[in-house]
Amino acid sequence: MIRHATIERNSILLLVLILIVVAIGGIVQIAPLFYLESTIEKVQGMRPYTPLELAGRNIYVREGCYNCHSQMIRSLRDEVERYGPYSLAAESMYDHPFQWGSKRTGPDLARVGGRYSDEWHVEHLNAPRALVPESVMPGYPFLARTPLKTARIADDLRANRAVGVPYTDEMIETAVMDVRAQADPDADGAEDLRARYPKSQVRDFDRNPAMVSELDALIAYLQMLGTLVDFDVYKPEENLR
Ligand code: HEC
Repeated sequence: MIRHATIERNSILLLVLILIVVAIGGIVQIAPLFYLESTIEKVQGMRPYTPLELAGRNIYVREGCYNCHSQMIRSLRDEVERYGPYSLAAESMYDHPFQWGSKRTGPDLARVGGRYSDEWHVEHLNAPRALVPESVMPGYPFLARTPLKTARIADDLRANRAVGVPYTDEMIETAVMDVRAQADPDADGAEDLRARYPKSQVRDFDRNPAMVSELDALIAYLQMLGTLVDFDVYKPEENLR
């Protein structure tokens, strides 16, 4: 008791002892993380974005779509019933920066891929209220008229590789070719593209064969969101057990 009174009367001693106790708590929590191989469980099907999808993702970020749309389905019943299987950590492991978001003026987009046709997206991005009269989403009609700039696409892949996305030298070399191969069905290279990026969708997304537009890239990105992991094979519930 007397010793405890000494501690309570000596603020510096109390402070030092508090720091020691807190440090022990910190070490117990943090140290094991250094011995884990990975904090993200690998899931079959995840691959880096194709160059066209990555370009679309950059447009998504540039236009601030994340201000109104999240990309993370929470493990709550109403969300899973509305949007599909809840998001896995692995599904955003190649996202720099991630697009989880905390604001939903519009619906979550984590699994919007394949939900609508390309034509729907073309119309909707051009003039949302033509399809959804009560929509407050702005139109982006300029995307269809703006040719996609490809000059920096290889650098984008390189930058992503620098932060851990497994792009190979070959993928970086063929980046510009792969953009064309994915958005222009008449171009060669679709087979090679699919070998490099399994499950990549190849077609003229904006239905304008005259050029590869920013709209092509954005729709290619939207149409792949949430489609890589096969939930008939992967059952998250089993992993929880
Ligand atoms: C001001 C907020 C706002 C911004 C910014 C915004 N949206 Fe939306 N978005 C909405 C709202 C509200 C809806 C629901 C009504 C509708 O379908 O238009 C929606 C719907 C959508 C849908 C249909 C989703 C579904 O499951 O029905 C897609 C796809 C979409 N937005 C994509 C985008 C993209 C891509 C961008 C950026 C280029 C964007 N949005 C920017 C508010 C926004």
